[in-house]
Amino acid sequence: MHRLVAVSNRLPLGDNPSGGLVVALQDALGDSGGLWVGFSGEPSDAPQDSLEFHDGARFDRAAFDLTAEDYESYYLGFSNSVLWPAFHGRADLIEIKPEYLQGYRRVNDRIADLLLPHLKPDDRIWIQDYQLIPLAAALRERGVTNRIGFFLHIPFPDPAICAALPNPGEMFGWFSNYDLIGFQARRDLRNFIEGARQLSQAEPLDDQRLRLCGRETRAGAFPIGIDAAGFIDEARGAREEDRMRSLTDSKMMIGVDRLDYSKGIPQRFRAFQLLLENNPDLIEKVMLLQIAPPTRESVEAYQNIREETEHLAGRINGQFATVNWTPIRFIHRPIPRHELAGLYRQANVGLVTPLADGMNLVAKEYVAAQDVADPGVLILSRFAGAAEDMTEAVIVNPHDPWDMAAAMKRAIEMTPNERRRRHAALLQDVVEHDVSWWVDRYLQTLG
Ligand code: ADP
Ligand code: F6P
Repeated sequence: MHRLVAVSNRLPLGDNPSGGLVVALQDALGDSGGLWVGFSGEPSDAPQDSLEFHDGARFDRAAFDLTAEDYESYYLGFSNSVLWPAFHGRADLIEIKPEYLQGYRRVNDRIADLLLPHLKPDDRIWIQDYQLIPLAAALRERGVTNRIGFFLHIPFPDPAICAALPNPGEMFGWFSNYDLIGFQARRDLRNFIEGARQLSQAEPLDDQRLRLCGRETRAGAFPIGIDAAGFIDEARGAREEDRMRSLTDSKMMIGVDRLDYSKGIPQRFRAFQLLLENNPDLIEKVMLLQIAPPTRESVEAYQNIREETEHLAGRINGQFATVNWTPIRFIHRPIPRHELAGLYRQANVGLVTPLADGMNLVAKEYVAAQDVADPGVLILSRFAGAAEDMTEAVIVNPHDPWDMAAAMKRAIEMTPNERRRRHAALLQDVVEHDVSWWVDRYLQTLG
């Protein structure tokens, strides 16, 4: 048995993780055991020059520290002000600064140094997400010959956007050090291959392998899943007191997202506003619960999206609220998973309407949480990776408030038969393609 060593930027040391990567890896390592290495969470004045180990029942965790300067350039800077907007199709939000790229390289080199003494020759190393693309190159420079895989949790953009990065050639060079590069969706794989061809003269060898920067590597689509059985149990067991009360005769729609501009929350609110404007009979009959914990708050684009979202919710509530009813309830913090499961189950409509998203686990959690006899309806953006396989959802264009308002109305009015038919197909996919299926498929392909 090979030990699995997973490396990600975020390492859960506390409760209530929000973010698809942490939720998925927790499930994955829970099954297989191994070691998970990641950032301790807060910048430190005096970073340790070794990993700090936290033993766990199911797997070990080891944390690295970052200085405030490294945190700023590597995490807030290159990762979340260059790669995140670029990979989510927002070239207008990219903020290029040479020190960001330097910090990104420096931190990846440092992680390689810290990891090296803890690696065993037959470990399988699995590196997660855009914060760590150069890590395999840094490990190879230090003599590591283990199999190293990479999984990108977010979308991979089309070549025109890759060309807006400060270092597209270097980026494809980093990718070439992996034995297997995994993407969420087939669309991301196509973009990667096309980008590598156009910007780095890669040669596809067959539908899985390509010659990139003088090396042969494999790339594939491995759509991530959730711990479906666990989530179904969680939702079934959701205690009465965890559910929202006083809503018995009104319908509830739910959105659960980090407060990120890629999630399309203002567009969702505008569509809801349009729904109420055009259907006065729905006043006091439907409400939208939006749970959106803060994220990356030192980055300006995130401050702007928070302001825009709060302002819009206030305006819509001012326009429509009555003494008995508030149309939008906006909760700006993480909530425990069992409560979340109960709320999903209670909601008649799940709103998953990102403008761009790698997969979107909320879509799968919403389906898993439903009561099969009386399930709710999933409204899903065509730009979420999840839409490639969850075709029985009501698929929408999140840029079009008319389309989304019509979908909301349709979902609210959908007959029980149609709801059950759609839900059964979605649930089958979520259960068959769960997180264990994802891990097994990826690791078998990595070899
Ligand atoms: P991303 O990885 O971009 O954040 P995903 O939808 O794939 O998006 O994953 C988000 C994960 O974070 C889901 O598992 C979801 O349940 C969890 N999450 C999001 N918001 C909250 C919240 N307010 N409280 C608890 N968990 C949350
Ligand atoms: O799933 C995509 C992702 O960016 C993860 O890499 C990350 O852990 C998660 O979203 C939440 O973002 P952050 O770790 O920056 O809070």
